[in-house]
Amino acid sequence: MLPWWYVIIVLQFWPMDAPSYLWNYDEPELWQETFPLCDSPLQSPIALTRDRIAYSRPPKLVPGDGLAEGEVTAINTGRRIELRLAPGNASQPAIQLVSYKKPLFGVYTLETIDLHWGDAGGTHGSEHAINKEFFDGEAQFVFYNNFYESMAKARRHPGGIAIVSVLLSGSSAAAGEAAFPSLGLEQQLDALAARGSEVTFAADLTPVHGLLSKALTRVLAYYGSLTSPPCNPVATWLVSAEPVDVSAHLLYDLATKVYEDRQKQKRLVNNWRPLQDRSGRLVTQLENTKP
Ligand SMILES: *[C@@H]1O[C@H](CO)[C@@H](O)[C@H](O)[C@H]1NC(C)=O
Repeated sequence: MLPWWYVIIVLQFWPMDAPSYLWNYDEPELWQETFPLCDSPLQSPIALTRDRIAYSRPPKLVPGDGLAEGEVTAINTGRRIELRLAPGNASQPAIQLVSYKKPLFGVYTLETIDLHWGDAGGTHGSEHAINKEFFDGEAQFVFYNNFYESMAKARRHPGGIAIVSVLLSGSSAAAGEAAFPSLGLEQQLDALAARGSEVTFAADLTPVHGLLSKALTRVLAYYGSLTSPPCNPVATWLVSAEPVDVSAHLLYDLATKVYEDRQKQKRLVNNWRPLQDRSGRLVTQLENTKP
């Protein structure tokens, strides 16, 4: 395991590119050979348990103007689908998070929503587990602290990133009806099949705001890392304590229509990192109000 003084130096000076041909989900134990931070302390994901409870107001969500007339850009990075949201007034961020209470401090801007899933055979798709239970998928809302001006700078600083994560349970609901808003992604998957494909489409983003407000009322919070290379240990995780229903059909389509290469030879499945050592970290359940 890397010592902290070395982690700080790597965070400052390491080029932070992690192109998908340098790592994959078949051999996550090899990531650290190319990306030293994957062997640093405080890695994610972990098996979550509620170790203590704290009561406080959840972080405030600030929506951009014109969420209903929003736009989604979806990208197949070869290792996940990333969604980037823009509201009607594209000079504003779609959603910001504001909190000056532990464990957050400042204004955070949503950069991407990263999707993780299993395979068509029914393997789990979540990265985190709650009380040893995995779920069918995981949607990670990655925010950077505005103090650092951009994601690229924020991820070089401990505490620079906050990730709100929603664990997904497959249900028989249609994509547009399930609690997890698909935003119409299910209609774009053929266009996203090959690595490097990108599509932009119009969507009402209001349900994302609704989902996050609900998700933030009870979260399991801990300090960890990005779950893929370069694995920077700079993230405050807020994992919603309640899983949310997602269309099982959408998860099936992700596991069967999306490929990890440009030639569409290898399906992108099971894009989750195995559980990492908790190394004594405590998980705090942050709840909205006293019962
Ligand atoms: C869009 O947002 C910018 C920045 O907040 C603001 O200055 C501008 O007036 C807004 N435009 C419209 C049409 O609301």
